Amino acid sequence: MSTENPKLEERRARVEALLRGIEKERRIGVIGSMNADYTIDVPHLPAPGETVRGGEVRLLPGGKSSNQAACAALLGASVSMFGLVGKDDNGSFLLERLGRAGVDVTGVARAGRPTGTTLIAVDAAGENAIAYAPGANDLLDAAFVRAAEELLDCDVVGLCLETPLNSVRVAAAQCHEAGAQVLLNYSPCSEPPSRDLAQSVDVLLVNEHELAQLTGLPEGGPWAEAQDALLDMGFSEALVTTGPRGSMVLGEDCARRVESFEVRACDTTGCGDAFMGAVLAGLASGYSLREAAELGSCVSAFAALGHGAQASYGTADQVVDALRQGLLG
Ligand code: RIB
Repeated sequence: MSTENPKLEERRARVEALLRGIEKERRIGVIGSMNADYTIDVPHLPAPGETVRGGEVRLLPGGKSSNQAACAALLGASVSMFGLVGKDDNGSFLLERLGRAGVDVTGVARAGRPTGTTLIAVDAAGENAIAYAPGANDLLDAAFVRAAEELLDCDVVGLCLETPLNSVRVAAAQCHEAGAQVLLNYSPCSEPPSRDLAQSVDVLLVNEHELAQLTGLPEGGPWAEAQDALLDMGFSEALVTTGPRGSMVLGEDCARRVESFEVRACDTTGCGDAFMGAVLAGLASGYSLREAAELGSCVSAFAALGHGAQASYGTADQVVDALRQGLLG
């Protein structure tokens, strides 16, 4: 679909070329969480003490790490997942869905604990509230990381904080030392990172709320201050997502905004993970951080069009079709 807006046309063409250029040659390793998401649509998110009547409960594949892996694989990258699920039906369900997305799941173990589970409420505007029971994800310890030898062969590695922090620290250090490009999604944001963890990370990914929590600076404050605070912590480059205002690329000597793609959101669950999955795929394909962020903007907007996290992700062809139909503007 052509518009009267040549700048938007140009941008769509640029992102289409990025989607078409995703390569399989370099391997992405994602080590972290896998969850079964029990999701209910509600007219509004319940306030404390409130009960809200919703629609049917849906069981959907989720977990931040698993979502990131699925997104990158669907786009055409070559991805291996490392983590733990239970010996239960939800564990089998998650493995089957990841396999269907094209992720190599030989690095996923079955544990004697229930598969990680979330309860998610999604309101009429597509916003969500999530409660998380880690289950088997909590067994991802330093010993598991050290035993995951294939992780060391990966060129780009994705981490998040839904598994114990010490395992994230060990994985980041080990992979960074082996020469991989390490991306850390500091979510869910808990305690501040140690300096050694920050220094093992090549690119930090956070949203603006997490950035404020991490730096102690007010949300929406000057980017130069946030950038200095991250550099002081030991991080070198960061991508900060700012919802409908797009994202910021923060580096040692620059802070640049990447615009978002407007979309009529159905469900924003997992859009941040889609952004990270696309960035992983982009960096593995040799794109600059700015190009990877632009790809992330488009792919995360696509993810807001459908229900759930992984369930709403698309292949590169599907995202290109949505761009051409003007669904992402
Ligand atoms: O980021 C979305 C994800 O967060 C969901 O899939 C849920 O499992 C929680 O981990």
